[in-house]
Amino acid sequence: MLKLGVMASGGGSNFQAILDRISSGDLDACCKFLIVNNGGCGAVERARKANVPVFHISGKTHPNVAEYEAALCKVIEDAQIDLLILAGYMKALPLSVLKLLPSRILNIHPSLLPKFGGKGFWGIHVHEAVLLAHEKESGPTVHLVSKEIDGGRILAQRKVPVYSDDTPEVLAARVLEQEHDIYWRTIQEYGSSL
Ligand code: GRF
Repeated sequence: MLKLGVMASGGGSNFQAILDRISSGDLDACCKFLIVNNGGCGAVERARKANVPVFHISGKTHPNVAEYEAALCKVIEDAQIDLLILAGYMKALPLSVLKLLPSRILNIHPSLLPKFGGKGFWGIHVHEAVLLAHEKESGPTVHLVSKEIDGGRILAQRKVPVYSDDTPEVLAARVLEQEHDIYWRTIQEYGSSL
């Protein structure tokens, strides 16, 4: 059984999709913790309902950078996880965290990387840029996390069509639906290859 730790900042629908596949038995894993950098985000409630321990660690809870990094590292190390799963975590991970789990940190991004990735490409801005560029297709990418934002090795991608009358919100919803399916499958596949 894979031991996962999850980090999130937002609504947590990807986190929920992972929890759901764990409880259905499709994903042979358990979730040891949720770390958030925003104590009021939707992911927190989802964790509480699933009895997953929540840790709020941010610049507010730990204004001192060294203490902030030490707090993150402690939770991650204590849990002895196989994979760290970023599920809409909006902050770059410090090097000290990257070093704890080489090739064992995964992220999901809502575009076909390397297109529309890197600085400034987050949330609805990704889909706005895809529409502005008149792309014919888009879709989620699951990748390993490296020092470069959205730059680590690509593990999986799923294409969806982009229609000429799409709004960024409509496209985001089409991509998100696929995120919920591709993420747990990639976690299972990549995790069992380690
Ligand atoms: C998703 O679109 C994901 O690709 C990106 O952040 C968003 C998180 O959504 N990294 P949610 O919080 O999982 O609903």
